[in-house]
Amino acid sequence: MNTENYFESFVDDYADEIVAIQPQFYKNAGKLLNDGLSKLKGGSKVLDIGNGGVINYDFANLGELICADLSVSRKAVKRYAKYKNVKFCEGNMLKLEQFEDNTFDAVIVQTVIHHLAGKSFKKTEGNVAQGINECMRVLKQGGQLMIVESTVAPWFEWVERLVYPLMQLFFRIIHFDTVYQYSSASLHKKLEGMGLNIKEYCNIETDKYIWLCRKKVLTKLTPCGACWMLIDKQ
Ligand SMILES: C[S@@+](CC[C@H](N)C(=O)[O-])C[C@H]1O[C@@H](n2cnc3c(N)ncnc32)[C@H](O)[C@@H]1O
Repeated sequence: MNTENYFESFVDDYADEIVAIQPQFYKNAGKLLNDGLSKLKGGSKVLDIGNGGVINYDFANLGELICADLSVSRKAVKRYAKYKNVKFCEGNMLKLEQFEDNTFDAVIVQTVIHHLAGKSFKKTEGNVAQGINECMRVLKQGGQLMIVESTVAPWFEWVERLVYPLMQLFFRIIHFDTVYQYSSASLHKKLEGMGLNIKEYCNIETDKYIWLCRKKVLTKLTPCGACWMLIDKQ
């Protein structure tokens, strides 16, 4: 992961930009999140980590929704100021030190995992495990980890692995973030390998266009897709 946050320079505009380009994806993901959230008891406490100012799910019945990110969108803070149960704060998925163990009924991680990439594939694997373990730590027993993740086709993940340093150099040249995208199957295998109880797993339909490096790109020209996983803390 880069020490500086790629999203910081456009943090206030990110949510509007991406939702305008991928409205159906956010609706599809929001439906899955709503299904999960509707099973929580009223007044539940939810953390949305790497929130980016995007809230595409119902939060009216939640006791508290904490939207944390490396950088906080001032636009989002203003937009949701009238909702007393929504709070925005800084937070790092790799070190959720401001939250005690067993705090939340649900943790939402929406299209964040690929931004936990490190300088090497080994570092990426470690970061992803560390970030997911932090989410599991702050979840209450019986709490739900809700993952919406941007994925790539399996063949593309092999290419990413093979040319990992070159790819990261390319991202640095074009001033993009350090990213590594799993295929949905390999992310599932990784999380299962961590001993997590994956209760739901499916792909999520994306839009005709995709937001890529702040550009509107035809999705079929990319290897990108998306998936959903619901994990139960037993
Ligand atoms: C692709 S955006 C996703 C934002 C939003 N969740 C959405 O669904 O559009 C990735 C977000 O993850 C945040 N992020 C990256 N690394 C993070 C970390 N270690 N801890 C918390 N947030 C992180 C970025 O700042 C950015 O807002």
